Amino acid sequence: MQTIFLIGYMGSGKTTIGRCLAQELGLQFIDLDLFIENRYRKKIRDIFAEMGETDFRIMERNALREIAGFENTLVSTGGGTPCFFDNMELMNRSGRTVYLKVSVNELAKRLHGGKQHRPLLAGKTPEELKSFIVENLALREPCYNQAQIRTDSFCLDTSCELDMIVGKLSTCLKQMNDYECEAN
Ligand code: S3P
Repeated sequence: MQTIFLIGYMGSGKTTIGRCLAQELGLQFIDLDLFIENRYRKKIRDIFAEMGETDFRIMERNALREIAGFENTLVSTGGGTPCFFDNMELMNRSGRTVYLKVSVNELAKRLHGGKQHRPLLAGKTPEELKSFIVENLALREPCYNQAQIRTDSFCLDTSCELDMIVGKLSTCLKQMNDYECEAN
């Protein structure tokens, strides 16, 4: 199966869904942020603090290029990955791209708890967080919308909801794969 790239805003469930979907499809799972942290032996927030976002984006780009060449792999990307350089084009060229779309209210709810680990969100009040998401998502959505598959991952509160999304995506990806195998 072609490499699968999960894309979407911070808090959209890329890692949670990615881990389960990779298992379901029998693929290796890679979380792009973790890959970068292991490679540079530094937390993402320390990379941002010590080297700045520009250097982080270059590291992210290089890691993505490397992973795009792997076989039988599902990658959970960072929320900003598709929006820098020609990363979105690279992913669309190298495999299947899936956009996990989530509403602003749901993202704000999910991200409120985890914002300290995310350098772009750290220190924001709930109001600032929400307006940041609104503005930032509006800038990023044109990139996310270039994905080949789009799914609504609004609710991930129960394991049943997670199973449903994973099942839906797995069927869709298998069908696309079968179709291509037949066409070749
Ligand atoms: C970022 C999202 C983060 C991480 C970095 C920047 C972004 O990944 O790559 O903090 O620009 O949206 P998650 O989407 O996994 O939180």
